[in-house]
Parts: sequence; C-alpha cells; structure tokens
Amino acid sequence: MKAPKILILYYSMYGHSYEMALMVKEGVESAGGEAILKKVAELVPEQFLDEYAKQAAERQKDVPVADPRADLKGIDGLILGVPTRFGNMSSQMKNFWDQTGGDWMKGTLVGKPAAVFTSTATQHGGQESTLLATHTVLLHHGCVIVGMPYSIQAQTTMDGLEGGSPYGAGTITGGKGERFPSDLEKGMARDFGAHLTRIAAKLKD
Ligand SMILES: Cc1cc2nc3c(=O)[nH]c(=O)nc-3n(C[C@H](O)[C@H](O)[C@H](O)COP(=O)(O)O)c2cc1C
Repeated sequence: MKAPKILILYYSMYGHSYEMALMVKEGVESAGGEAILKKVAELVPEQFLDEYAKQAAERQKDVPVADPRADLKGIDGLILGVPTRFGNMSSQMKNFWDQTGGDWMKGTLVGKPAAVFTSTATQHGGQESTLLATHTVLLHHGCVIVGMPYSIQAQTTMDGLEGGSPYGAGTITGGKGERFPSDLEKGMARDFGAHLTRIAAKLKD
C-alpha cells in the first residue's frame, strides 16, 4: 500500500507550534506516512510584528505557505497546529478554513482522519477549548476526529508543567514565550503524529 499522505498545517507566530510541527512530522514519517508540512498565511501587518515574531518567521522561511484551494486535495489525513488566541483558534488558521468552502461542498475531507495540537502561554490558558473549537471546523468538513489516547502516557505526568490532553498534544510557552517545547511535549507530538498516520493507513482506500 502507498504511504498515507498527511498534511501538517500550522500557524506559529513565535515558533513554538513550528517546533511541535517538526516533531509531528517525525512521527508521521516514523509510522510510514508521507508528511506534507505547510504553514498558513500571516495576517498581522509586518509593522506590528515584534522582533521575536520576525526571528520566528525567519526560522520558518523554507516552509511553504498553504493554498486553501489546493492543499486539502489528495491527502489521507491532516494534523493542525493551532496556537490559542483568547482560548480559541488563531485567526490566521481560521482564515485558511474560511477559504475552503469549495472543498467543503465537494466533501473532499469526508471520512479523513484529522487531529489538532495547540500551544498556550499558560497552563489553563485554553488548550482544551482551542482544540475542541478546531474540532468543530473539522467535523463540518466531515473529518473523523482523532484525539490523543492515554496510551500516549506522557500526558499523565505529574512531574511538572506540561501541555497535552486526550483532545490533542500541546505545549506551554510562558507569558513571554520563553519556554520552548519540553522533551516530554516533543515526544507527545511525535507519538501523536504516528498515531494519526496509523489510523490514516487503516482508513485509506
Ligand atoms: C492576541 C493573543 C491572544 C492570546 N490569548 C491567549 C490565551 O487566551 N491563553 C493563553 O494561554 N495564551 C494566549 N496567547 C499566547 C499564545 O497562545 C502564544 O503566544 C502561542 O501559543 C505561542 O505559540 P507560537 O510560538 O507557535 O506562536 C495569546 C497571544 C496573543 C497574541
């Protein structure tokens, strides 16, 4: 059977979700998938981006910007990386989905497995609400939602502050973005990517 094609689509103003996306990519490939890594377009005008955002954009300069009218076609599964904004999906990611009406009408994603990971500044800053809000959009597209099972045991740690839950992987950045994904969160992202890929391989026609 051909490798399932998995779109990893993310937004990352400060680079935390980008690091998680790279780990998800490793996981997809470790499970025999073909990973397609894309970022959504920035909407914030350049003059309002601070130096940390500009540095993070530089690190991601080789990642192609996703095309909402082309990139959902021909994939077998997808994983979205969605940093929170006020406990909800960032507008940059929502803007991508708001341009996918054509594929929604055609049913391009019906029956395709989809998962979400997130990033928040604080422990209770809205990881679960962001993941669930993003699931809603994917459900409207007819996707089969894939959560992060407790077999990925990193999420049960009591040893420190860590992101992630049964709704999806996550990282916590600190108020100034000073904390980058821990080894535990990176492992979680990798395992999550592999989990989604194994399901995509089973569902692939
Ligand atoms: C306008 C705005 C709203 C935000 N809202 C929240 C929030 O509700 N909860 C939270 O924990 N972090 C919040 N954050 C912090 C971001 O979630 C954080 O910068 C992001 O997860 C970092 O990921 P990235 O490096 O991939 O961009 C907010 C940031 C901005 C700019």
